Amino acid sequence: MKKHLLFLGPPGAGKGTQAALISKANNYLHLSTGELLRKEIDLDTELGKKVKDIMNNGELVSDQLVLDIVKKNLEENNKGWILDGYPRNLSQVNSLNEELMLINQQLEIVFYLDIPDEVLINRLLMRGRKDDNEETIKRRLQIYKENTQPLIEYYKKLSLLEYINADGDLKTISADIKQKMA
Ligand code: AP5
Repeated sequence: MKKHLLFLGPPGAGKGTQAALISKANNYLHLSTGELLRKEIDLDTELGKKVKDIMNNGELVSDQLVLDIVKKNLEENNKGWILDGYPRNLSQVNSLNEELMLINQQLEIVFYLDIPDEVLINRLLMRGRKDDNEETIKRRLQIYKENTQPLIEYYKKLSLLEYINADGDLKTISADIKQKMA
C-alpha cells in the first residue's frame, strides 16, 4: 500500500538522507521544501531571489510560500510520499491538514528522528552548506525548538508518531524506519 509519511526532526538529523533512501526504494515522491527552495536559488528565479537571504540566515520562509510549493507537488502526484522539512510550525500543520482533506489523503506515520545537539552540529559543520556555519546552525536549532518541536507532541497525541534514534549509522536507521513502516 502507498504510504504517506512525514520525517520530523532537527536540522542535521538525517531527514533528507533517510527520506531519499526510503522514497527511492519505494518509488515515493520525496518532497523536501528545503531542496525545492535551494533549486530556485540555484536557478536564480524570482522566488529564489526572494528566499535566498532568509535561508542563508537560517530563518523560516513564509508559510504561504511553502504551502504553494507543497500543494502543487501533492496535487500533481499519485504515488506515496514523504514530507521532509514541512510542516515546520503549527500554522503549517493546519494548512497541511486542510490540503490533505481536500485531496482526500492522510498522513499515516510521522517519524521523529532524534539526535543530540552536539552530534548534529558536527554533522552540519562537516557538510558545509551555505547555512551550515556555527551562527546559522545555532539559529536554525533555536527556530526548530521554538516552532517545530511542539509538533512532536501534536502527532504523538494523534498516535501517528514513531520514534527513531537517528544517532547511528545510516543502514541501522534505515532498517529501523523500514521495520516501523511495515
Ligand atoms: P532544510 O533543507 O529542510 O534544512 P534542515 O531542516 O535544516 O535540515 P537539513 O537538511 O540540514 O538536515 P536533515 O535532517 O535533512 O539532514 P541531512 O539528511 O541533510 O531547510 C533549509 C531552509 O529552508 C530552512 O532553514 C528554511 O529557511 C527553509 N525552509 C525549508 N522548509 C521550510 C518550511 N516548511 N517553512 C519555512 N521555511 C522552510 O543530513 C545532514 C548531514 O548529515 C549530511 O551531510 C548527511 O550526509 C549527514 N548524515 C545523515 N545521516 C547521517 C548518519 N546516520 N551518520 C552520519 N552522517 C549522517
